[in-house]
Amino acid sequence: MVNVEDKADNAEQIKYWNNKAGTVWVAQQEHLDRLLAPLSQAGLAAAKFSANESALDIGCGCGDTSLALAVSQSNGSVTGVDISEPMLAHGKMRAASTPNLTFELADAAVAEFNSQYDLLFSRFGVMFFSNPEAAFENLRKALKPTGRMVFVCWQPPSENPWMSLAGKAVQPFMPPATTSPNPYAPGPFAFSDPAHVLAILTGAGFTDVQMQSFNTPLHIANNLDDALYFQTQIGPAANAVATLGGEEKNKALNAVKEIFRPQMTEKGLDLESAIWIVSARNKH
Ligand SMILES: C[S@@+](CC[C@H](N)C(=O)[O-])C[C@H]1O[C@@H](n2cnc3c(N)ncnc32)[C@H](O)[C@@H]1O
Repeated sequence: MVNVEDKADNAEQIKYWNNKAGTVWVAQQEHLDRLLAPLSQAGLAAAKFSANESALDIGCGCGDTSLALAVSQSNGSVTGVDISEPMLAHGKMRAASTPNLTFELADAAVAEFNSQYDLLFSRFGVMFFSNPEAAFENLRKALKPTGRMVFVCWQPPSENPWMSLAGKAVQPFMPPATTSPNPYAPGPFAFSDPAHVLAILTGAGFTDVQMQSFNTPLHIANNLDDALYFQTQIGPAANAVATLGGEEKNKALNAVKEIFRPQMTEKGLDLESAIWIVSARNKH
């Protein structure tokens, strides 16, 4: 796989995932993989990776689903592709004794592919392209004519209190937005609107596009302090920590704690999540 220069201009995301975000995802890898496990299982079950098949895990990050695919079929082969050097380095370390798994540092939107995969898979790694239709047109070139794609992406923030609740708590402390946000801009919720995803994938030449809703509670942490710590590493509360200082920061963090407090049970903090399991076929 050759990484073509950054024609589609994903430079901002490349910078983002190679700086603090990449380091945080590496540091939080075990927690994130445990947290996301029910969603991975749902996506992997839909992908039905089978004996002797080959798969490309797009935006594979620290490699959790790449490993799961590779281990599930020892005579299959898996490639994880990502733009983040620190996350891939961590993935390579984890996969040291998994011979049928390789990782490539490349922008999946513009990398050169050669109709070599049976399956394109992703867990939350395809919502960051600056030009998604062009990116998926390029990714379709990685599929065999009979190939399929399965990925999971988030439904809107309102359906994902595990992320949006902390955001709601810190909002009064953040500077007011000067422009209204573009709901389709690269980011975790860019694919939350099914009509938008359908238009992108059909425009990119995929067929038989299906979007299945999947909801489940996620276990955030065992206690309130751990929940607060995790939410200050990733997500809207992490932005507040990075942007605010002094008393305002303390007030924002306290607001997160107070919004979580009534949700605590003897098991800790579990909050609802909702994803789309998207599947499609190559049009040949
Ligand atoms: C939310 S993380 C998900 C990582 C991993 N799939 C997981 O579930 O743990 C998004 C990932 O997409 C990667 N990514 C973003 N844009 C990409 C691109 N154009 N090509 C390849 N990977 C990309 C990021 O570097 C990051 O690892």
